[in-house]
Amino acid sequence: MAPRALLGLGILSALGLPAAVVGQTAAARAYTPSVGACPDGFSLHRSVGTSNQTLSPGESAYISSRKSNILPGAWKAYLANVQATENSLPSYVASILNGENGASAYPTLGIATSGGGYRAAIFGAGVLNALDGRNQTSAQAGTGGLLQSATYISGLSGGSWLLTSLVQADFPMIQELAFGYNFSSDSNGWGGWLASYDLLEPSDDPVEDGVYDTAVVTEVKSKHDAGFPVTIADVWARALARHFVNGTNSDNIDDITGTHGAGLLFSQIANTSTFKTYGEPFPVVVADTVSTSQNNSNRISDEGDLVPLTNPLYEFNVYEFGSYDPVLATFTPMQYLGTTNTSVCVTGFDQASFIEASSSELFNEANVTTEILMNSSMGPFFQLLNQTIPEPGMELDVATYPNPFYGVGSGTYLDSNQAYLGLVDGGEDGETIPLQPLLVKTRGVDVIFAIDATADTNNYADGSALIATQNRTMNIYPQAYSFPPVPTDMSAFNAQDLTSHPTFFGCNSTAPTPLLIYMPNGYTPHGQTPVTNTSTTQLKYSDAEVQAMFDQTFTMATLEGIDSQWPACLACAVVDRARARINAQRSGICDTCFATYCYGGSNSTWGAGTSSNTNAARSATLSSFALLPSAALGIWLALLM
Ligand SMILES: *[C@@H]1O[C@H](CO)[C@@H](O)[C@H](O)[C@H]1NC(C)=O
Ligand SMILES: *[C@@H]1O[C@H](CO)[C@@H](O)[C@H](O)[C@H]1NC(C)=O
Ligand SMILES: *[C@@H]1O[C@H](CO)[C@@H](O)[C@H](O)[C@H]1NC(C)=O
Ligand SMILES: *[C@@H]1O[C@H](CO)[C@@H](O)[C@H](O)[C@H]1NC(C)=O
Ligand SMILES: *[C@@H]1O[C@H](CO)[C@@H](O)[C@H](O)[C@H]1NC(C)=O
Ligand SMILES: *[C@@H]1O[C@H](CO)[C@@H](O)[C@H](O)[C@H]1NC(C)=O
Ligand SMILES: *[C@@H]1O[C@H](CO)[C@@H](O)[C@H](O)[C@H]1NC(C)=O
Ligand SMILES: *[C@@H]1O[C@H](CO)[C@@H](O)[C@H](O)[C@H]1NC(C)=O
Ligand SMILES: *[C@@H]1O[C@H](CO)[C@@H](O)[C@H](O)[C@H]1NC(C)=O
Ligand SMILES: *[C@@H]1O[C@H](CO)[C@@H](O)[C@H](O)[C@H]1NC(C)=O
Ligand SMILES: *[C@@H]1O[C@H](CO)[C@@H](O)[C@H](O)[C@H]1NC(C)=O
Ligand SMILES: *[C@@H]1O[C@H](CO)[C@@H](O)[C@H](O)[C@H]1NC(C)=O
Repeated sequence: MAPRALLGLGILSALGLPAAVVGQTAAARAYTPSVGACPDGFSLHRSVGTSNQTLSPGESAYISSRKSNILPGAWKAYLANVQATENSLPSYVASILNGENGASAYPTLGIATSGGGYRAAIFGAGVLNALDGRNQTSAQAGTGGLLQSATYISGLSGGSWLLTSLVQADFPMIQELAFGYNFSSDSNGWGGWLASYDLLEPSDDPVEDGVYDTAVVTEVKSKHDAGFPVTIADVWARALARHFVNGTNSDNIDDITGTHGAGLLFSQIANTSTFKTYGEPFPVVVADTVSTSQNNSNRISDEGDLVPLTNPLYEFNVYEFGSYDPVLATFTPMQYLGTTNTSVCVTGFDQASFIEASSSELFNEANVTTEILMNSSMGPFFQLLNQTIPEPGMELDVATYPNPFYGVGSGTYLDSNQAYLGLVDGGEDGETIPLQPLLVKTRGVDVIFAIDATADTNNYADGSALIATQNRTMNIYPQAYSFPPVPTDMSAFNAQDLTSHPTFFGCNSTAPTPLLIYMPNGYTPHGQTPVTNTSTTQLKYSDAEVQAMFDQTFTMATLEGIDSQWPACLACAVVDRARARINAQRSGICDTCFATYCYGGSNSTWGAGTSSNTNAARSATLSSFALLPSAALGIWLALLM
């Protein structure tokens, strides 16, 4: 890490901003929530029930319109892509996807994209590109079109950067999302992820980085002045906003007076033209919570996870924030996030960047001691925040939300008597793939395409995220969620080499248990030099690196040159619950596919030119670290050795 000048607010005055304006820049103003009277009939809570939960009216309407207006055409287009690669699909596959068995026979597909910092954002994007029917190469590979056919898509941590940037930018293609388009000719264009600028140290010059630090901290001051606690998560939000929210491009990234995505709200995604025409899967972002009254004996301690599996998992969608977990089973309107009663309503709190930041807020993991925290790459930001906006006694290492659920579910809900919620990275309980929203029974998800770029071993995924979800669903919330069987420990995962290729879980289960298509970042296509296992602490990628990762990921997701039947096998898995609904028998190539790709399938000799990269001894302690600051990681390791 480059030494960093800690410049304080003086620098902004020195650069020509009058002192009175410091903290009231355009970005600071746009980042500040507003307070006003609640609209007539305002309802703070929606209770969802505990076993087969109810959806919000907004979500129900979106899903039903997407299913009737968009998905029949999307499935047909996907089917044509698969058929072009394989002409011996069983007839039920075509009849289901062509709509010949009626609307209720279509599969309901959810895609989940994991945490793991930039690596996960890039790997997830590469997989989505392979599923994107708009890309002719993906269409010709026989995998394109699944993205268009999905009903839901969820993301957490690095996956939330990918998902949120994608939907707020109005669902561009992946190359455009990563590298930007039209931003120099049209200020409304999208500047891309700007991955070649480090998230925390965008310049190579310590003085300029000091100016940057000061700018991002200053941008959260007005929110504090308006009566809301601010923490490192707000500062992180302002850093992430420069990459994963509209408003920044390579020409203006250095401009400290720019808005840089402040004011762009998660609820506003509802106003993008793709969302308004039901043209994308319904997006959901996941975050964990820490609480003073949590039961630490329910942590997966051998994995070093900080959040007990019993803590509620929160989800953010365009309409609502809350939890389907039976302990809370309550939601609040997204547009009024920050509100805690029905008379005074807050708006503008649901900044898209703050939600990305909450889902990837793992600085509490570096807070082993204050010294370690201060020596992490976020250390300068903690110090500057503490100096600029003193908040004595405030915990600064979590994302702080006025608790909309104060007084709800007393006795079961652990934060019932807390004025504020402390949200953290969605993977801190070990569930680094955001599967939970897709297991909500009313959502009726038949099949989940789970993208896993967790750093377990050698920065590859080893499957432990699935074990964590199995634990939570089986041991804690069996009445609310159902999850297909996965191995109960890592040795079984390793013995069967389940991360050396895509694997189907739940082949023998029945609805409402979904079938899971597991797409691990766990192997290298035959003969290639591995490029997708970069460290989670890498916060800067050249365009060439991103492109190389996209290209390798494309081969991993299409299995081009490895298994020519894979696109057909994927289609067999996608329709399998729908097949059961119409009482058809699995047959033909689908039988062969299930023998090959199912966990527990009869043909375990998956001999197709990849090898698992995770069979080496695991580094259990580090498995949950979705994104640990580099300096803290070094100290943490030093302490452990
Ligand atoms: C970029 O601008 C050109 C010219 O205005 C337009 O045709 C094109 O659709 C734009 N690209 C995107 C991705 O919006
Ligand atoms: C972000 O910018 C894109 C490209 O100009 C635009 O289509 C989209 O509507 C914007 N998103 C929001 C939430 O304003
Ligand atoms: C969507 O846009 C309309 C018209 O500009 C505006 O009135 C409405 O508040 C916006 N909704 C959201 C959720 O941003
Ligand atoms: C904490 O969890 C453990 C394990 O599930 C349980 O035995 C114990 O009773 C719990 N403690 C409290 C205070 O709920
Ligand atoms: C998760 O499951 C494994 C295997 O069944 C078990 O060893 C572990 O204790 C479980 N952890 C929790 C927190 O339930
Ligand atoms: C409602 O919440 C606001 C804070 O947003 C608070 O100032 C006000 O006193 C509360 N009103 C009631 C009636 O509790
Ligand atoms: C914040 O500043 C106060 C006053 O200088 C100091 O006592 C405290 O230790 C600082 N806290 C952190 C987390 O740096
Ligand atoms: C570090 O963690 C402790 C214990 O949870 C907490 O009291 C403290 O506020 C945290 N430090 C910061 C800077 O957030
Ligand atoms: C949940 O309820 C919906 C309608 O409210 C129903 O269609 C669905 O079958 C139910 N699912 C389960 C698993 O009970
Ligand atoms: C389609 O995907 C391939 C493989 O990653 C990529 O090389 C190509 O640029 C993409 N095409 C477009 C138009 O995005
Ligand atoms: C699934 O069922 C098939 C056929 O009954 C059986 O051979 C296979 O072992 C089962 N797999 C699992 C994981 O139970
Ligand atoms: C098992 O799979 C391998 C690789 O796909 C294939 O070569 C072999 O023929 C299969 N064996 C059986 C019995 O299906």
